[in-house]
Amino acid sequence: LSYKGQEYEFPVITGTENESAIEIGKLRDVSGLITLDPGYKNTGATKSAITFLDGEEGILRYRGYRIDELSKKSTFLEVAYLLIYGELPTQSQYDAFTKEITLHTLVHEDIKKILAGFPSNAHPMGVLSSLICSLSAFYPDSLNPNQSEEEVNLSIVRLLAKMPTFAAWAFKNKMGHPVNYPDNSLDYCSNFLKMMFALPAETYEADPIVATALDKLLILHADHEQNCSTSTVRMVGSSQASIYASISAGINALWGPLHGGANQSVIEMLEAIKADGGDAKKYLDKAKDKNDPFRLMGFGHRVYKNFDPRAKIIKQAADEVLSRLGVTDPVLEIAKELEYAALNDQYFIDRKLYPNVDFYSGIIYRALGIPTDMFTVMFALGRLPGWIAQWKEMRENKEPIGRPRQVYVGATERDYVFI
Ligand code: MLT
Repeated sequence: LSYKGQEYEFPVITGTENESAIEIGKLRDVSGLITLDPGYKNTGATKSAITFLDGEEGILRYRGYRIDELSKKSTFLEVAYLLIYGELPTQSQYDAFTKEITLHTLVHEDIKKILAGFPSNAHPMGVLSSLICSLSAFYPDSLNPNQSEEEVNLSIVRLLAKMPTFAAWAFKNKMGHPVNYPDNSLDYCSNFLKMMFALPAETYEADPIVATALDKLLILHADHEQNCSTSTVRMVGSSQASIYASISAGINALWGPLHGGANQSVIEMLEAIKADGGDAKKYLDKAKDKNDPFRLMGFGHRVYKNFDPRAKIIKQAADEVLSRLGVTDPVLEIAKELEYAALNDQYFIDRKLYPNVDFYSGIIYRALGIPTDMFTVMFALGRLPGWIAQWKEMRENKEPIGRPRQVYVGATERDYVFI
């Protein structure tokens, strides 16, 4: 290539593992080294001290603590504190943190007017991201990028406190039901379940098995290093947009079927198999078809070349919850057959097509009575502390504004001709 009268060589390196890396060697002199990496498959977008993920070994740790240990010993709010502040809270820190969160669960009454503007068939994720973003308007101080640590902490508490309220209200809007106000005598998950499921004039008590299972699910989803939504939160936050706008952007990124929507796709796939006679074996054979393979949703993971550590824990939780609640559901039976095949069939073992976290989370949400289009909202509820921690880290590191470069492949200079 000739650039500004000088000749440059382009050693194009292809055939890497995912064929995505093209190094533009000598152009470094004029514009720096650019690596074409669509989807950021190989590019580390940031350094982070929050979550460690080893996809080869199937290891996941939050701030150095193993996720399986946390899911057994901690509550979701403890894990949220750990992710956001870097340490597990002492008892008094935990009490103060939960008290603060409880004090902020209510939302401004005018937010109900925003909610009322949505059609009842609005997807709850659209409603959730809008309501979270609207907090920038109700708390305009959050727009100031130079907020004190205390003010930032207040925004963090507000987010954690109001998210379950918004999530449940998004569901109520979908149902065409009146909303329930938070019950501050309850723990985080029981309060959420009550806001979701209590009907007018009904005494509602969340099943403790369900509330505990939900708490565990939220822990398992609380962070997962730089994925689509988390990188989006950091990217939007890097422009010094408010924390509410940044988290709202993360919710939108999570919405897509390839990210948070994957567990919804799993249930839809299971429903389709059921409608076609419920023959799981037929679909397993189709998945092995060399020419036109059927895509099994909820199997394999971009990063994990081993069993997703979250999937192991969720599988166990799903088994416990299903047997304790005595749930029978033909779709769950199909799921079990697919899972059995994946774990025992050499074809799936060789290709490392293990069921991932999305495979089991959809099943457990369904058993808990959470409707399919709320699955992604549940994911967002769990992921919130991770997004907040990543936003806070990005801000404290004073990271520069995210500004990806591109490899231009369009026309070179052209003469303008009026036709
Ligand atoms: C997640 O938990 O965010 C998902 O597994 C997606 C990912 O890590 O890319």
